[in-house]
This record gives sequence, structure tokens and C-alpha cells, in this order.
Amino acid sequence: MMEPPAVHTPSGLPEPDADARAHGARVQAMLAQRIRDAGGWLPFERWMEAALYAPGLGYYSAGSAKFHREGDFTTAPETSPLFGRALARQVAQVLEASGSARVLEFGAGSGALAAALIPALRDLGIEAEYDILELSADLRARQRDRLSDRAGQVRWLDALPEAFSGCVVANEVLDAMPAVLFRWNAAGEPELLGVALDARPEAAAPFRWAARPAPPPTATALAARMPPLPGYQSEMNPQAEAWVRDLGRWLRRGAALLIDYGFPRAEYYHPQRLRGTLMCHFRHHAHDQALILAGLQDITAHVDFTAMADAALDGGLDVLGYTSQARFLMNAGLTDLIRAPGDDPAQRARQLTALNTLLSEAEMGELFKVLAVGRGLDAPLLGFARGDRRDRL
Ligand SMILES: C[S@@+](CC[C@H](N)C(=O)[O-])C[C@H]1O[C@@H](n2cnc3c(N)ncnc32)[C@H](O)[C@@H]1O
Repeated sequence: MMEPPAVHTPSGLPEPDADARAHGARVQAMLAQRIRDAGGWLPFERWMEAALYAPGLGYYSAGSAKFHREGDFTTAPETSPLFGRALARQVAQVLEASGSARVLEFGAGSGALAAALIPALRDLGIEAEYDILELSADLRARQRDRLSDRAGQVRWLDALPEAFSGCVVANEVLDAMPAVLFRWNAAGEPELLGVALDARPEAAAPFRWAARPAPPPTATALAARMPPLPGYQSEMNPQAEAWVRDLGRWLRRGAALLIDYGFPRAEYYHPQRLRGTLMCHFRHHAHDQALILAGLQDITAHVDFTAMADAALDGGLDVLGYTSQARFLMNAGLTDLIRAPGDDPAQRARQLTALNTLLSEAEMGELFKVLAVGRGLDAPLLGFARGDRRDRL
């Protein structure tokens, strides 16, 4: 067999194995073709979309492990079923208030959240009708395997519903939507960053960054978000904003719980955050080199929660709550779940470790936030009873 071509990894990152290198080479060839087809330059948003979601090739569309220890990163539902059990209390309140038993989860990953939420809702007296909308055919197949004992209760949708009442859940989905990358040049004018081919033999990947003047609508959107700061680079996410705005079209009664890492706008575009929030994950190493390991690594940008709240308002929805993951889970009674009698000591120790990961400021507790948007709900949501930070958005 021929040795697969090199896929360069900077020092400190693990080397991909031969199968991964062969896959990486196919993804590079696809991306190079897209750049040529686009006339030599692809805006980063389109690069990220192809690198993550091109059918059969993109990071989320092909068969790598991705989640948990053997993968590239660990999410809250992968950390412990306690996350889903606490979230279930908020979901149950939304379902009761909206007179529906329907849950719609976006981007369900390995199916870990559904596997925890469905039985937890049953314990709360709700037999959920659970729908999943997942972009990746590979992950959809994995979710079917993981949730095979719930056949009949879980359905996979091919498209957005025309109308929906109930509770929408999206954990770490907004950050995985392709972002626009921009910078302010030395003259204080906005530029879009994109990707071109790099033919130099010494190049770390056959791609290089290239900037073009931002088109007028993007320039206007950027100017409304932050002052021009020469040399400053960051992201915005019109696709994620459009997705939230569109919720207003089909969410008739209920709420969407959007859980992700990010900040309100003033923090997002803080003058000291000079290089933005673009981040890649490969085998539990986080770094900012988005043009290497294409198809083999996750690429994400943090969420501007002010933009998401504005998009919800534009879509005719109410902003129902915004707080840190730690505060939300505490409000939803996470610590009562730990104290449940009958736990064996080893399970208790595992739960305490998970609790630390989910709640600690140094881990997921503060960086991750929960934003609830919705329509037709009168009572305040219990997850935001204390520490609601809507005033910071
Ligand atoms: C970082 S993973 C999170 C997986 C899972 N929610 C978790 O927390 O473990 C992102 C997920 O969102 C999916 N995704 C991204 N954009 C999506 C969209 N517009 N609609 C549905 N799923 C999407 C990806 O395929 C993937 O399953």
C-alpha cells in the first residue's frame, strides 16, 4: 500500500495515524478544488462549512470518534448523565407550560444527551416525543445505535418542522456553525479572511490565509458591533443568527435552550481579545491553526450571545433567560441529584468529578452559558431563577 501523503501537524500535536492521514489528504484535495472553483479564494465561512460538513469527508460527516476520551473533545452530556438529568427539570417545566410533550434536539452528537434526558423526563412523569435534527449522516447513524432501545420514541427529522410547540435543545451547536472571520486593517477598514492555495514546498499545509475587503453589508454589520481596531481579528456568525431568527417562524409555543461557550458582545469584542475566539480541537489538544488537519480536527468559534438574543427578538421571540451553565444547573437542582440516596461510593466519586467539570469556573461552569428564547410562556423559567444576566446582553 502507498504511504498516505503527509498531513502536517505543528509540534505538540499528536500525529494522525495512516488512515487519518489518507482521509486528511482526500479532504485537502476537496478543499483545494473548491478554492480553484471559486477563482482562487474561499471566504473562511465556506472553508469551515466544507471542512466540517462536506458529505462523507467533513469532520462531522465522516467516521472519526470526535467525542469523549477516544475522540477530540468532551461535551457536557458526554461528561455525565447528570447534565441531562438536571436539564430535564427545565425541559419538563417548558413542556408543561407549552402543553406539549415534544422535544426537538439539534446536533445530538453521539446521542448522549437524549439517552439521559428521555429517562429523566419519564421519572418526572413525561413520556417525551423526542425528535432529533442532525446534519451529519454518520452521527445520525451513531445516534440510532445508541438510542436503539428507544425506537419508536425517537424520530430523526430531515428538515425543520413547519410548526412546533414544546422544547428545543441545542448543546454546543451554535459554535459548530460556520463563522465569518474578519479583521480591521491598518487603515481601520474591515477585511474578510479567507483561504487560498499555498504552493510553497515548506508550507505547513497547502493553504494560506488571504484577506479581501469586506463587502458593504458585512462592513455595516461589523461597524454596528465594534469600533475599528487596526490589527484586531475576530468572528461573527450570520448563519447562527439566521438559525435563531428562523426559530421565530416555526416555534409556536415553548422555548429553545441554547447552551454553548461564549460571551455577551462587550466581552466578545473586548479590545484585549485581539485574535478572536477561533479554536480547533484535535485529540484533546486545543489550538488556533484552522488550516491544518482539515477534516481531522474540530473548528469552532465562541458564541456572541448578544447577537443570538438580538436575532431571537428580530424573529419575534422573547428572550427568557441568560446565565452561566453553573448557575443554570444549580437553579435546576443539580446538587439535589448528587445527594440522591442509594448511590454507591464509586458512583458518588464519579459524580463529584463530573460536578466539578460542569460547575467549576475553571472548567465549564462560567465559560458556558445558557440562553433561553421562546414564545407564549408566562411563568419565569426555573433555570434562571437566580443569577439571570439578561441585563448584560
Ligand atoms: C460540537 S457537536 C455537539 C454534539 C452534542 N450536542 C454534544 O453536546 O455532545 C456539534 C453538533 O452539531 C451538529 N450541527 C451543526 N450544525 C447543525 C445544524 N444547523 N443543524 C443540526 N445539527 C447541526 C453537528 O453535526 C454535531 O452533531
